[in-house]
Amino acid sequence: MNETIQTILLRRSIRAYQPRQIGEVELQEITLAGQYAPTAMWQQPWHFTVLQNHDLIEKLQLLCKSFFLHSDNADLRAMASREDYHLFYHAPTLLIVSGDCKAITPLQDCLLAMENMLLVAASLGIGSCWVHSVVMLCGNDEGAAAFKSLGLGVSEGYLPHAAAVFGYSAMPLPEAEPRKSRRVNVVR
Ligand SMILES: Cc1cc2nc3c(=O)[nH]c(=O)nc-3n(C[C@H](O)[C@H](O)[C@H](O)COP(=O)(O)O)c2cc1C
Repeated sequence: MNETIQTILLRRSIRAYQPRQIGEVELQEITLAGQYAPTAMWQQPWHFTVLQNHDLIEKLQLLCKSFFLHSDNADLRAMASREDYHLFYHAPTLLIVSGDCKAITPLQDCLLAMENMLLVAASLGIGSCWVHSVVMLCGNDEGAAAFKSLGLGVSEGYLPHAAAVFGYSAMPLPEAEPRKSRRVNVVR
C-alpha cells in the first residue's frame, strides 16, 4: 500500500488538541493542497480564511454554541447545553473555505479543497476535524450577520461551505469505524 493510501486510511477526526500552533510551513502546504483540488471549469471559486487568533476562535465558538442552543434540533440543543463541550475542541487553527455563489459548483469545489487539506494535514502528523457549526451559523441570516460582525465575513457573494479545525492531537488515534459492506457495485 503506498503512502497516499495509508494517509487516507489513517486519517481520523481528532477531538482534543495541544495548545501549540501548527507551523507556518505546514500551514502553507495545507492551504496549497487545498488550492490544487479540482474545481468545475477550473474556476477556483473559493476563499480560505485561516483563523489562528485564540480570542476570535473562542468568540466564534460561543456564537455557534448559542446558535445551537436556539436550534429546532433537540440533539444540537443538548450538545450545546453541555458546558464542557467545545465545538472546536480547543484547536489552535480554524480554517473556513467559502465559495463564490456565482460559480458553477461552489459547494463541491469547497468540499474537495477541504478534503485535500485534511489529508495533507494527516500526512504531516497534524490532526483535524470537520466542524459543521460554522456553515450552519452562516446559513442563517442572523447568524451570518453575527459572523460578519466578528470581522470574519469574506467578499460579498461568498458563503462558507466547509470549516475544519487543525492542530497537534492530544488524544490517541481513534479506531476507524467499520466500513459498511456492499457499498461498491462493479458493472463489467
Ligand atoms: C460534512 C461533515 C460535517 C461534520 N461535522 C462535524 C462536527 O460538527 N463536529 C465533529 O466533531 N465532527 C464532524 N464531522 C466529522 C465526522 O463526525 C467524522 O468524519 C466521522 O465520524 C468519521 O470519523 P473519522 O473522520 O475519524 O473517519 C463532520 C464530517 C463531515 C463530512
